[in-house]
Amino acid sequence: MNKILIIDPVDHVVIEKLKKDFIIDYDIKISREKLINIIKDYSVLIVRSGHRIDKEIINNAKKLKLVIRAGTGFDNIDIETLKNNSIHYCNIPKVNSLAVAELVITYIFALSRDLIYTNNSTKQNVWIKDKYMGYQVENKILGIIGYGSIGQLVAKKANALGMKVLASVKNMNSEKNKIALENNVKLVDNETIYKNSDYISVCVPLNDETKNLISMREFEKMKTSCSFINVSRGLVVNENDLYEALKNNIIRNAAADVYEKEKNKSKLFELGNIICTPHVGAMTIETQKKIAEIVIKKIYEYKERGIFYD
Ligand code: MLT
Repeated sequence: MNKILIIDPVDHVVIEKLKKDFIIDYDIKISREKLINIIKDYSVLIVRSGHRIDKEIINNAKKLKLVIRAGTGFDNIDIETLKNNSIHYCNIPKVNSLAVAELVITYIFALSRDLIYTNNSTKQNVWIKDKYMGYQVENKILGIIGYGSIGQLVAKKANALGMKVLASVKNMNSEKNKIALENNVKLVDNETIYKNSDYISVCVPLNDETKNLISMREFEKMKTSCSFINVSRGLVVNENDLYEALKNNIIRNAAADVYEKEKNKSKLFELGNIICTPHVGAMTIETQKKIAEIVIKKIYEYKERGIFYD
């Protein structure tokens, strides 16, 4: 019987369905040491963004046939070593884009109306009204860095709210140009976004070109009233510079769902003018159910192709 190891949160249906044909172990708190020790027993690994699957882990995975990244980004997985070890791998891209885009819109409103401050002070029975004069989003400029599937959905929703949308795109093609035109999005360079936007949302994948894309140099170009949002990857933004920019009011406020070192205490947690969430962009019931269906389908497809053996 082949064994499947699941080390990040997935919808329970994955376990319910697969346990008929496989032995399933589910340990989302697994330590790196334990993973290195036990990975040798598994044929399939299901992972999201919560663990780094590096050379040492892969080289210990003597029976491993398939790695499923139950989401989009491969930045936490050493694909080269998987290839060198003839281990199949796949991701499930774009399914979570809507959930992430909706989180960006949630942040936009929460940051505009200082929702976290007003919630916290009201619950302490402190009735401050005058300090929290917010902003309306209608007619404000939203700059989206990265016009991929998340960026495009954010733009659509922001447009429906009456916002003016700017977006920057690295690999321009006629399809993206067409989508931008149809959705009333002005494609511009990053400098134009930094200078003109009231809200900036970073929606790029992490790679060599986007690592440290936003640092103090960029924050200093932004409006002091700017709200900055990062739902991509922590390493795209220089976290120390974001901390300084918020502390010194170089920008108004921020929201982060991703961090340089996740599951570690970030310096950002000390600040009042940032909303911090624990990488929950993809965590909606609907999205995780869809991803679960695809995970199950993929495992049976690979089973039929005969890649598993004991
Ligand atoms: C992704 O890359 O799909 C997201 O970071 C969501 C996740 O897997 O947690």
